[in-house]
Amino acid sequence: MKYDKELLKTVHGSHEGIDKQVYTNSVIPLTDLKTVGRRFMGAGMSQSYSAIYWQEYFVESNRFEYIVELGSQKGALSTYLANMAAITESYIFDTYEAFPYPQEETDGSDIESRTRYNGTGHWFSREHEGVGHWFEKMAEISPYINMHYENVFDKDVFNHIGENVKQFKTYIFCDGGNKLRELNLYSRLLKSGDRIAVHDWNIEIHPHQVQPILDEFGLEYDEPFAKSATELDTWIMPFRKK
Ligand SMILES: C[S@@+](CC[C@H](N)C(=O)[O-])C[C@H]1O[C@@H](n2cnc3c(N)ncnc32)[C@H](O)[C@@H]1O
Repeated sequence: MKYDKELLKTVHGSHEGIDKQVYTNSVIPLTDLKTVGRRFMGAGMSQSYSAIYWQEYFVESNRFEYIVELGSQKGALSTYLANMAAITESYIFDTYEAFPYPQEETDGSDIESRTRYNGTGHWFSREHEGVGHWFEKMAEISPYINMHYENVFDKDVFNHIGENVKQFKTYIFCDGGNKLRELNLYSRLLKSGDRIAVHDWNIEIHPHQVQPILDEFGLEYDEPFAKSATELDTWIMPFRKK
């Protein structure tokens, strides 16, 4: 059977701001596996390849039953965690993105709130390597995969996550527009043994800022995973509820 050539598209990743020749004229050094902001499965990722490796064994070691990503953006990490959920059938995955649509498809009020919340609008943007068109299909066919176009600081989001934290061993990954506020809000839901991690550690969120939250909600740095995350330059810091 001859395949339909019309299926092939060139729109994906075509935005002028995206470098399409990252390694065309250079050899890839091993250390580049620690570079944050590479492409993974064709999708944009605000993570490094080393962070994916870290997530794989963090999840496997802890056998979580419920994983939540706050802030999906282009969705490479979301697609990875969603596929792991569906392949292993061992956990339910929720990802949250308040600004899934490209700017040109939103009205003025959305642009205003995007500024307030630091939103990207990349989820459905093929030009920006967004995964929305495919992720929605995965969510349709798998009960393990869910995406939500909601503000993580809304009460109904908090209640939905809280309801599920109660019944599942949980891991929450704070990677939205305000990691400190996310850590502070969602730490209070955790049970003993649950985990919560933040991205952009020592860049957007710092030890002196999180210490009062760790003290208030009985969390500790989650070793040895914290050390691995640091050695791999993932910019991730995980915490464990005591
Ligand atoms: C750093 S990016 C997420 C990166 C993604 N987790 C990854 O690994 O590639 C942060 C995302 O959070 C979204 N965001 C910002 N504020 C939010 C909010 N209050 N609720 C939900 N999403 C939010 C932004 O639109 C942006 O796409």
